[in-house]
Amino acid sequence: MNTKEKILKLLEESRDTFISGEDLGRSLNISRSAIWKGVNSLREEGFLINSSPNKGYRLDESCDKLNKYGILKDLRKELRDMDIMVYDSIDSTNTQMKRLLYSGTLKNFSLIVSNEQTAGRGRRGKDFLSPKETGIYFSLCLFPKEDFKMDSFDLITVKAAVAVALAIDKSTGKNPKIKWVNDIFINGRKVCGILSEADADFETKHINSIIVGIGVNFTTKESTFGKELSTTAGSINEKSLLRNQFLAQVLNEFYSAYYEKTDEEILDLYRSYSLVLGKEVEFELNGQKYTALAKDFDEKGNLIVKFKDGSEKNLSSGEISVKGDFYS
Ligand code: BTN
Repeated sequence: MNTKEKILKLLEESRDTFISGEDLGRSLNISRSAIWKGVNSLREEGFLINSSPNKGYRLDESCDKLNKYGILKDLRKELRDMDIMVYDSIDSTNTQMKRLLYSGTLKNFSLIVSNEQTAGRGRRGKDFLSPKETGIYFSLCLFPKEDFKMDSFDLITVKAAVAVALAIDKSTGKNPKIKWVNDIFINGRKVCGILSEADADFETKHINSIIVGIGVNFTTKESTFGKELSTTAGSINEKSLLRNQFLAQVLNEFYSAYYEKTDEEILDLYRSYSLVLGKEVEFELNGQKYTALAKDFDEKGNLIVKFKDGSEKNLSSGEISVKGDFYS
């Protein structure tokens, strides 16, 4: 950790109070002019740092710049040594994670987060609009255990959706809803999308690694979404919350969903936040359009639909996407 990072760490850890140059210098065992240089260099990077001749330095309360120390301070203890890589701009955090995977140096639960994506990817080859400063775009890398099988893959997205819904619920009190399988809505607007990708061995049916990519519209303005998304996309818009804090909450919830909660507990939470259960949904299968009632989820997170004639079918999210009246 260089001097600048050490200063940032201390400023993030005591956001509400000024720290005097003297105290900073003493804690880091460096001169006050080295502190001054470090603070200026952080300012050049875009950190809003207040300074007062008598009180010292502190981060401005509006300073919402994504950074490792802002995330780390709110993480549960099991995650405090996770690898966190923060970018100001990148094509796609999932794509970057794939590049790093090939280098063979990634740890389980490594995180890449970016302030902006220039080629953010959604499901089914769609783009994911990822404008700077107002969103959180991140990817987690998981190395599942030997016994993790391909048909459990959808459950990872289910767990990520539950984690985001819980984080929104607990930290904003807003009423999140999950549209099977990977979209989170608030008030009929999509505020988050999830793209999970796996590197699998089709012979042994083992999954070597999974990249869970999550994109959150945090304070993105309606005008930024453009014409195409203007009636469907929305933002979390919780003024009292910073992006680093919210990201830490999602990571804490995902840790619990992935390592602590049983699949039954996850599916119950998924049901309780569901936007589709009990509704008529439309989907296309083998070129044919169908309408059916969304009845339940099975133990793999597949959607069980019931047709008018009483017959039922379990739909895998890889095969279909459902449409319905979710935007009102
Ligand atoms: C969707 O809505 O279809 C899924 C969107 C997933 C977007 C996230 S943002 C972080 C990660 N990197 C990407 O390129 N995509 C995912």
